[in-house]
Amino acid sequence: MSANPTVLILAGGLSHERDVSLRSGRRVADALRQAGCQVLESDLDLHLLPALESTPVDLVWPLLHGAQGEDGSVRDVLALKKIPYLGSDARAARTAWNKAIAKSIVRRAGLATPDYVTFPQSLFRELGPAALLAEIDQSMGMPLVVKPLHGGSALGMTVVSDAAGLPQAMMDCFAYAEVALIERAVRGTELAVSVIDLGDGPVALPAVEIVTTDGPYDYDARYNPGRTEFFAPARVSPEVAAAAAAMAVTAHQVLGLTRISRTDMMVDAAGVPWFLEVNVAPGMQETSLLPQAALAAGYALPDLYRKLVETSIAAGSVPQ
Ligand SMILES: Nc1ncnc2c1ncn2[C@@H]1O[C@H](COP(=O)(O)OP(=O)(O)OP(=O)(O)O)[C@@H](O)[C@H]1O
Ligand SMILES: [Mg+2]
Repeated sequence: MSANPTVLILAGGLSHERDVSLRSGRRVADALRQAGCQVLESDLDLHLLPALESTPVDLVWPLLHGAQGEDGSVRDVLALKKIPYLGSDARAARTAWNKAIAKSIVRRAGLATPDYVTFPQSLFRELGPAALLAEIDQSMGMPLVVKPLHGGSALGMTVVSDAAGLPQAMMDCFAYAEVALIERAVRGTELAVSVIDLGDGPVALPAVEIVTTDGPYDYDARYNPGRTEFFAPARVSPEVAAAAAAMAVTAHQVLGLTRISRTDMMVDAAGVPWFLEVNVAPGMQETSLLPQAALAAGYALPDLYRKLVETSIAAGSVPQ
């Protein structure tokens, strides 16, 4: 490794979260430059593979959100080209990307996660929406959350409090995904716990608490200033903070994730954290949860990002 590593930041792509990804990419690129790294930036387009041929880089940092970035496929391409990249390998990314599979794996590891069912749009049509939705209402009860099986930024997510709201929630979800995940809603405190691994194993950063002024933590609440307040560290008891940290580290480990992740969870009135999902390419823009957690832990972001880069390069092998 040269004294100042060359890092290619991969951001953009054609997912619904393109803009978020571009902002994440810009923030990380700026921070790494400040820390003395040589930084190249690329979108996910026709120029990427030729650029990777002509300009040797020490590491690619995929900051693509949504499909391709998080479903493992771009990571597969980098592995084919034997180019080291930062973060989880393709297989682990694919597992985490499917919220139902991730939930079943963490549940087997003893973590609490809300009961759920998944329905593809095609089955929904074949069985008839009215009958299926009545069944869901009867056996799962309310409130429920309807959201895409894959996805991010809460696009296509609705909290449903009575059966009358289910059909519209399903329609909104199917606008973003072929498969809907319907799970029990957990009322309580929303926390996001980021995990980093600087070479000594995965460590949880302080939990960040998310409080919206009104309604759920949806796309609008995420990216429009004023609708959400964050508390880093979260205003929870030491016991809840410890349980949340343990949940995030366990999820990171049992899903086989590498270097960086963020687990989203709800803490119920009894102080029990419920796993919602884990992200292998967490948002990294100014207001994002992982940077807030890192600042709360006392890290300077340029130093932390450079350490993540150096640890990844030192780990050597190309993730498979
Ligand atoms: N079971 C649930 N109970 C209560 N709220 C929920 C539940 N599932 C999701 N939510 C709310 O919906 C939001 C989005 O859900 P989730 O984190 O699963 O999906 P996402 O769109 O992939 O998010 P991200 O952008 O964080 O990757 C959560 O931040 C939370 O506010
Ligand atoms: Mg989430």
